[in-house]
Amino acid sequence: MVEEYADLRPGSLRRAAGASSLTWHHEPVTVLEDSPFVRACRGLPGPHTPVWFMRQAGRSLPEYRKIRERTGMLESCRRPDLVTEITLQPVRRHNVDAAILFSDIVVPIAAAGIDLDIVAGTGPVVADPVRSAGDLERLRPITTADVDFVAEAVRLLVAELGATPLIGFAGAPFTLASYLIEGGPSRTYLKTKAMMYAEPALWHALLGRLADITLTFLTTQVDAGVSAVQLFDSWAGALSEADYREFVMPHSASVLRGLAGAGVPRIHFGVGTAVLLEAMGEAGADVVGVDWRTPLDVAAKRVGPDRAVQGNLDPAILFAGWDVVEREARRVLAQGRAASGHVFNLGHGVMPETDPDILTRLVALVHEITAR
Ligand code: CP3
Repeated sequence: MVEEYADLRPGSLRRAAGASSLTWHHEPVTVLEDSPFVRACRGLPGPHTPVWFMRQAGRSLPEYRKIRERTGMLESCRRPDLVTEITLQPVRRHNVDAAILFSDIVVPIAAAGIDLDIVAGTGPVVADPVRSAGDLERLRPITTADVDFVAEAVRLLVAELGATPLIGFAGAPFTLASYLIEGGPSRTYLKTKAMMYAEPALWHALLGRLADITLTFLTTQVDAGVSAVQLFDSWAGALSEADYREFVMPHSASVLRGLAGAGVPRIHFGVGTAVLLEAMGEAGADVVGVDWRTPLDVAAKRVGPDRAVQGNLDPAILFAGWDVVEREARRVLAQGRAASGHVFNLGHGVMPETDPDILTRLVALVHEITAR
C-alpha cells in the first residue's frame, strides 16, 4: 500500500466477520452468501435492497484523482497496492453493499500480448488493430500467472473488506473485439460488424480466443476470492437479437457456463440491450444488468423468475437535483419489486463530473426506503 494512505489501512474497513473461513493465500475462499448483495443476486430476501455503482471507483472521487496524478491507468491496474486503495475508496465514502475490483476490461488482452494503452478522456487505444487471421496470432492465450497482480489485489481486498463482497469483472468477447478491431472506441462499430458479416470464420475464431482469455481472467479472480463476477458487454446493444444470438451469445455463454460451478453469482450487463435481455439471461447469467431505457418490471418479465435484475437509474439524473434523484430512485425501487431479486445500481457508469455526495445520499436513501 502506498505510504500516504497507510493510516486508512488494516482494519479500517473490517466489519463483523460475515465469512465463515479466513481468506488467505491458497486457502479456500468463501462467497459472502449472507451479505445483502449476494442474497439479492440469488433472489433471496435481505435486510435492505443492496446498492453499488458501476464506476464507483474513479474520477468522481478527488481521492482517486490524487492517487492517479502520477500513475498511468494500466500501470495502476497492475499495482495491487493501488488497486486495493482505489477499490476501497468508494466503499469508505458511500457505504455501498459491494466493492468492484479496480481494473479495466482491456487488462487481460494487454496480458495476452496486444499493444494497447488507456488514454484519458478517450478509452482503450490499440496500436495495431486485429483485422486478419494473421493478426489473431498476436492474441495468445493467458494463464493465471499472466494476471497474478489481479489475484494478489483480490486477496488483499478480501482480507480488508471483511463482510463487504468484492465483485470481479471482465469485458465480454463482443465488447473486447470491438476495441481490438476498431483500434479504439467507436460509435458505429462499422469495422467490427463488417468482419462479423463478411468473415464469420475469422470472427468466431477471434471471439473464441477472447472467451478463453476472459474465462481465465475471471477464474483467477474467483479463485482469489471474489464473491460475484460481472461480465460487461457494454456495446452489445449495437446488435439485433438475431445477430447477437448467432455471433455473440455462444462466446459469452462459454464464459458464463465456464463459471457455472464456481459458486459465485454471475451478472451480465450491457447498454441499450432492451431487445437482448432475454438472450443475455439465457447465456448463463444469474443477474441481468439493465440500463435506464427499460423499466425494471418490464426487464424482470423478459429475464424470467429465475434471474435477478440490476440497475437502473440514469446516471444523468444525478445532475438534476436531489428531489429528482429521490423521486426517480423510488420509481426504480418500486419497479424493481417485480423482479425475484433487485440490486440497485445506475443504468451505466458514474459520470466523472458527478458530485460524490449525491451518491452517498443515494445509498442511504435506498437503504432507508427498503429497510425490512
Ligand atoms: O469502479 C468500477 O466500476 C471499476 C473500474 C472499471 C474501470 N473500467 C476503470 C476505468 C470498470 C468496471 C471498467 C470497465 C470498462 N472499461 C468498460 C465496461 C464498463 C462500461 O463503462 O461500459 C469499458 C467499456 C471499458 C473501456 C474503457 N476504459 C473506457 C470506455 C474508459 C473511459 C475513458 C475515459 O477516460 O473517459 C476506460 C478508462 C477507465 N477505466 C477509467 C477508469 C476509472 C478512466 C481512466 C482515468 O481515470 O484516467
